[in-house]
Amino acid sequence: MIFPSSFIDKVREANNIVDIVMSHTQLRRSGGSRFVGLCPFHMEKTPSFSVNEDKQMYHCFGCKKAGNIFHFLESAQGLNFPEAVEFLAQRAGIPLPKKDPLNSFSTKNKGSADSTQDSKHTLYHINQLALEFFTTQIQKKPPHVVNYLKERGLNEETTTRFHIGYSPNDWEALTHHLLKLSVPHSSAEALGLIRSRKSNNNSHSKSTPEDYYDVFRDRLMFPIILPTGKIVGFGGRVFDPNAQPKYLNSPESEVFHKGKTLYGLNESAKHIRQEDRVIVVEGYMDFLQLFQSGFKAVVATLGTALTQEHARLLKRYTKNIFVVFDGDEAGQTAMERSLPLLLSQNLIPKGLRLPEKLDPDDFLRKYGKQNLEKQLRSAPELFLLVLDQFLLGFRGQSAEKINLLDKISPILLACADKRLQHFYVSELAEKIGETPAWVKQCIATDLSGAKNSPQMTPIVTKTAPELPQNPKETVVTKVSLMGAPTSELYLINMALVKEEYFHRILNEDVLDQLSHEGVKQVFLRAQQLLGQNFSKFDRLGSDLIGEVHPQEPLCLHLKPPLLEIKEPDATKLITDCIKKVKEARLRLQAKTLRSNLRGQNSLDQQEDLERIMNIHRDRHLLNKNLESKKANNGEQNND
Ligand code: UTP
Ligand code: MN
Repeated sequence: MIFPSSFIDKVREANNIVDIVMSHTQLRRSGGSRFVGLCPFHMEKTPSFSVNEDKQMYHCFGCKKAGNIFHFLESAQGLNFPEAVEFLAQRAGIPLPKKDPLNSFSTKNKGSADSTQDSKHTLYHINQLALEFFTTQIQKKPPHVVNYLKERGLNEETTTRFHIGYSPNDWEALTHHLLKLSVPHSSAEALGLIRSRKSNNNSHSKSTPEDYYDVFRDRLMFPIILPTGKIVGFGGRVFDPNAQPKYLNSPESEVFHKGKTLYGLNESAKHIRQEDRVIVVEGYMDFLQLFQSGFKAVVATLGTALTQEHARLLKRYTKNIFVVFDGDEAGQTAMERSLPLLLSQNLIPKGLRLPEKLDPDDFLRKYGKQNLEKQLRSAPELFLLVLDQFLLGFRGQSAEKINLLDKISPILLACADKRLQHFYVSELAEKIGETPAWVKQCIATDLSGAKNSPQMTPIVTKTAPELPQNPKETVVTKVSLMGAPTSELYLINMALVKEEYFHRILNEDVLDQLSHEGVKQVFLRAQQLLGQNFSKFDRLGSDLIGEVHPQEPLCLHLKPPLLEIKEPDATKLITDCIKKVKEARLRLQAKTLRSNLRGQNSLDQQEDLERIMNIHRDRHLLNKNLESKKANNGEQNND
C-alpha cells in the first residue's frame, strides 16, 4: 500500500522511537534527549547503542547501524517500509487511510485500485475474528484439550503467547459466529474457515448462509501470524491419534502463502536478531517446544519444503541458519534440499542430524535442553553433513566419484559466497582423493548435464546481488557519501546539530563550492525538506538518514563532540571547514587551469594566467578573512 506522506507524518508523530527501541533493549537516559543501551543488532557487553529522542534517530558506534523509527522496525522486526508504517499506525490507534474493515463488511463501494487492499484487510480481519473465537473456546477448558496440552508439555504462557485455540466439535459453531458478525461467507470460505455443502459443479443456485459448515472441528488451533501481527491462516491438529489428516492447514489464499511464511516469526524475530542465529524446524510442535524451552530464535516451515523465499526472509535477520529437521528419512531429504537454496542466499547453514528418527520436540523432551544446546554449538556445516551422507558406502571407484560430483555440483554452484565454495571444493577433493583444481574444473564445466533432480536445477540460477536492509530501498537510489572529505562531512553534520548552524552554513554560499556531489545533494535535499516545513528541524536527520549510503558519515551529529558542541568551538569548526572547502575548490580550479595552459595559444594562455592570479588572490583573501575572524574570537585553529 502506498501511503500519503501526510499519513506517514502523522504516524511518525504519534510514535516515539525510544518506546519502540525499549521493547527490544533496555535504555537509560544519558543526559538531555540521549538514551544509551546494549545494541539489539549485535552482541555486546558495554552499551554502544544510542537513541536521540529529539531527533528520533538511533545509532550504534559498534556495528554502525543507524536510522529512524522505520529503519529500526525494518532491522529489528524485519518489516518493510509499508509494514512498518502499518505497525506504527496500529500501535498508535490511527486508522489506515482506507475503509476500516471492521465497519464495512458490506460489499458495496469497492473501488478497483484499492479493492485488493480492502479485500486483504477484510481477510485479515476475518482471521482475527476466528482467532478470537478459537481462543474463547479454549478458555472454557474442555477437559480433553487441557489433557492434551499437558501431555504435550505446552504451558499456559506458551498457549497464550501463541494464541493457541480450540475449534469445537460442532459443524456450525464458527459459521454461525461469523454470520452473526456479518462476515461475508465467500471471504470466510476463501480463507478455508468454512465450506459450502453444495459442491461447485452441481450448484445452480447460489449458496445461502445455511449451506455452510465449519472446516476445523475438534482441533487444537495454531494461528499463523506475520511479524506485522496479521493473521494469515491456521493449522489445526487432531486429538485422536488415528484421525486423518493429523494437521489441517488453511489453504493458500490472497493473504496466505506457505512458501513465504514461517510459523512463529512474529514472536521469534527479535530473538533471532539478538542471538544472530535461527533454528529452522519443520513442525508447529517443534517450534513451540523449542521456544518454550528457551530456544527462542526459532521458526518452523508450514509442512512445505524450505523455499528460496524463506531463505530470503531469514536473511533479513541473520546469516547463521541451523537446520534441525526430523531425524527420519523425509526430514533428511528435506535438509539436503534446503542446502543449495540457503547457500545461494549467501547464508551459512549448519545442520543437526537428530538420532533415533526423533524430531526436535521428541529430542528435547528425551534428552533435555542442555543436550540440544551442546549439539547446536558443535553443529557441523550443513554442507559437510550432506557430503557425509552422499559418501556413505563410498569406496573410491571412478563411477562413484562421477556420481558424487553429479549430485554435489549443483550445490557447489549454488554457493553465492565464492570463498565458501572454495572451502567446500577443498573438503570434497580431500574426501575423494582428488585435487581441488580437478573438482573445480568439473563443476566449472558442469559435466553433470541436466540429470539433476528438478529441485536442484532452478537453484543454480544466478542470485541477485546482496539486498539492502530495507526492501523498499531497493528501488530508491541512495545518495553516496563514499569518499566525502572530512570538512564537508563536518559541515553537513554541524548543519544538523542546530537550525542556527544550518542557516549560517548555507548563508556562507558554500553549496556550490562543495567538491562532493553526495554532500551537496544532501544539503539540497535538507533545504528542500526544511522549506516544506520550518518547524521540523529536529526531524531533518531522521528524514535524511534513509536516503544516504553509507549512513555512518551522517551520524557524526548524534554523538560527542558534535552533539555537545558549544560556542566558540562551533563557530570555529564551521569557519575552519568552510575555509577548507573553499580552499580546496580554488586549488582545484587553479590545477585545472594550469593543465589547460599547456597546448593553448598565447591569448588563451594570458586569460587563464589572469584567472590563476585571481584565484591566488582569492585564496590570500580567504586566509586573511579567517585570520581576522579568529583574532576576534581570540582562538587558535586546531582543525
Ligand atoms: P510431522 O508429522 O513431523 O508432525 O509434521 P509434528 O510437527 O511432529 O507434529 P506432532 O508432534 O505429531 O504434533 C511436520 C509438519 O508438517 C505439517 C505440519 O505443519 C506439521 O507441523 N503437516 C504434517 C501437515 O500439514 N499435515 C499433516 O497431516 C502432517
Ligand atoms: Mn512431533
